[in-house]
Amino acid sequence: MSEVLDERREDGILLLRINRPEAKNALNQEVRRLLAELCSAAATDDTVKVVVITGNDAAFAAGADIKAMAEATPIELMLRRNHEQWQAIARCPKPVIAAVNGYALGGGCELAMHADIIIAGENATFGQPEVRVGIMPGAGGTQRLTRAVGKFKAMLYCLTGQTFTGREAFEMGLASKVVPDAEVLDAALEIAATIAKMPPLAIHQIKEVMLAGADAPLETALMLERKAFQMLFDSADQKEGMRAFLEKRKPSYRGS
Ligand code: CAA
Repeated sequence: MSEVLDERREDGILLLRINRPEAKNALNQEVRRLLAELCSAAATDDTVKVVVITGNDAAFAAGADIKAMAEATPIELMLRRNHEQWQAIARCPKPVIAAVNGYALGGGCELAMHADIIIAGENATFGQPEVRVGIMPGAGGTQRLTRAVGKFKAMLYCLTGQTFTGREAFEMGLASKVVPDAEVLDAALEIAATIAKMPPLAIHQIKEVMLAGADAPLETALMLERKAFQMLFDSADQKEGMRAFLEKRKPSYRGS
């Protein structure tokens, strides 16, 4: 059976389930390859509106596969080109939601942080414990965790390897929402379905401007926002959305 199960749902949601229960969904080369390939395909597939990435009840992903890494040399790591696979997820233009239950450690926490929205189970276990096996986060943990929760909490977690729960992740701003463990996937799918009904061009512009703007000076970011806002007035969906409001009916969006 595939190590990432993909389900294309009629409501425009692509659901990706990491499927290595025997290894707590540790990220090996095959899982990374499949996630990258599926996210790249979703980028150009108009029928996919939102991507949801999840694991199982026990683990979202317990990190990079330590067995596949323990004896690696720096050149072997370089030749694996993992950063290109991570980029395929980070650059997916469709909204990506991580539905997290169980362990989201190391590369698993980093995978969740590649998403745009994180839905966490109350008892999920997040963390960057790489320091405990002699290394450090290598897929964005030191940077994305710091940007999400601030330097002092991120330092605490990266330097000690201490874990934190889904509720704590929510309280410190890493998770968008915390729900009872049994409701995580449903909550993620409900949010995904809401987004999937929105005008696709507006969704695309919002994601692009928010991510690009976060790395730019404020004046540049505000200009990006202004240009994208103005450009949307050239879309059929803008006319439809505003006319529908004025005519007191539901809009019907076409993505044009
Ligand atoms: N890599 C490889 N195998 C892993 C794994 C990992 N990251 N996490 C768990 N497994 C395997 C275990 O080796 C075990 O396999 P065997 O049955 O063959 O021994 C199986 O999954 C079940 O795990 P445990 O018996 O350990 O289950 P547990 O419930 O007692 O503990 C756990 C679960 C707390 C997640 C523990 O497995 C653990 O600490 N895992 C490692 C977490 C970690 O250090 N992650 C960071 C990895 S480095 C990284 O991610 C680098 C990066 O930034 C890219």
